[in-house]
Amino acid sequence: MSVALIILAAGQGTRMNSDLPKVLHPIAGAPMLHHAMAAGTALDPDHVVVVAGFGAEQVTASAMTFDPTACVVLQKEQLGTGHATAAARGALKGFDGLAIVVFGDTPFLSAETFEALAASTADVTVLGFEPADPARYGRLVMDGDQLERIVEFKDATEAERAIGLCNSGVLAARAPLLFELIDLLDTNNAQGEYYLTDLPHLARARDLNVAVVTCDESETLGINSRAELADADARFQIAARRSLMEDGVTLVAPETVYLSLDTIVGRDALIEPNVVFGPGVTVESGATIRAFSHLEGCHVSRGAIVGPFARLRPGAELAEDVRIGNFVEVKNATIATGAKVNHLSYIGDASVGEKSNIGAGTVTCNYDGVMKHRTEIGARAFIGSNTMLVAPVSIGDEAMTGSGSVITSDVEAGALAVSRAPQVEKPGMARKLFEILRARKAKQSRGS
Ligand code: UD1
Ligand code: MG
Repeated sequence: MSVALIILAAGQGTRMNSDLPKVLHPIAGAPMLHHAMAAGTALDPDHVVVVAGFGAEQVTASAMTFDPTACVVLQKEQLGTGHATAAARGALKGFDGLAIVVFGDTPFLSAETFEALAASTADVTVLGFEPADPARYGRLVMDGDQLERIVEFKDATEAERAIGLCNSGVLAARAPLLFELIDLLDTNNAQGEYYLTDLPHLARARDLNVAVVTCDESETLGINSRAELADADARFQIAARRSLMEDGVTLVAPETVYLSLDTIVGRDALIEPNVVFGPGVTVESGATIRAFSHLEGCHVSRGAIVGPFARLRPGAELAEDVRIGNFVEVKNATIATGAKVNHLSYIGDASVGEKSNIGAGTVTCNYDGVMKHRTEIGARAFIGSNTMLVAPVSIGDEAMTGSGSVITSDVEAGALAVSRAPQVEKPGMARKLFEILRARKAKQSRGS
């Protein structure tokens, strides 16, 4: 059956205490909303409808970057999860398949759980779970194998609060039935809201089948506060590190490595302790990322060695066998095969040719205060230590620059460019200076 995903993401998330909509708070470098959207791709849905409200503009932009075909609908006032679901009606006009309602703040549902929901033959299916601490979750009141109703914590009696089976918020039904039942909701409850959770009871009143499928608590924990956000991130990290190791990546101290939702690392790559992968990083097989390096938006090819203490920023493209050493920052730059930038350098808006060597302390001076400019360095060039390359500038193949040079014009292939004050030597002058200075110091200490 074809599937539509309805992702409820209109709430502010009061307990986050933030101007940013809750679903845009990041877990592993990606907004919670992207995690929820990524999870749903397991069913290859025909429609993805995101219900936005608080911060709708930002939520829309974020949804579109993940899936440009997604449809974002507006819930102007947040009158409850049932009301939010109703906002998706227009976007699913004429759609007759299975609609699955999920929450943007419950981002870790597994592919297996989505498949179990899609496989259910009941008219309405609710995803339940049995948490160690049922806390304030809605409770599922069963009658045999039928879900009689869901009772919200605030509306529940003591006996109902004792029920261990809880509502995850996920609910599936054929779209026409879903919207038909939504029309019957009212606001006679403790919160004066249109509860999506009233649907099972309405369905049972019509003698329809209402089933529960269950999943592990780790999939359904909702995120309502910064502390829960941090816990969710920690859980994501544990799972992501484990999955990298299963894929053949060596993590020397896994608990110290921070990964993003989209981090890709090839087999037999080696990741030393305390490495941070921001969004958009791919590392090929057999590369080594040494300790305390920070990477985002970059690509590291086979055999390259990065760090320790290196920073690769967006647009850093390292070819095979490149070496990037300690305290080197690379941004928007391609470093060709076998090139080395080993110490204390900034390479930004640049290209470095094959097997070139960039000496310690080299800086591509890419910014004039208003605009950015490029530095092009050819193959097998040798850039002397502490060279300032004032962009725009290009250095030809097999050219050299002298240490300490400030290079402001192009250097042709094979040439040596030196631009620094000539050395002056004054014989015996150091000795004389020392005598003068020591005498001055002695006089001062006598006087004091
Ligand atoms: C909801 C469930 C509860 C369940 C719990 C699981 C209802 C009435 N209650 O409670 O049974 O145990 O989730 O985490 O469904 N939203 C909108 N528009 C609104 C209201 C909410 O888009 O008008 C969105 C929120 O942005 C959020 C999701 O729906 O992503 C859930 O809303 P939330 O207020 O967190 O519901 P809970 O009180 O947690
Ligand atoms: Mg919630």
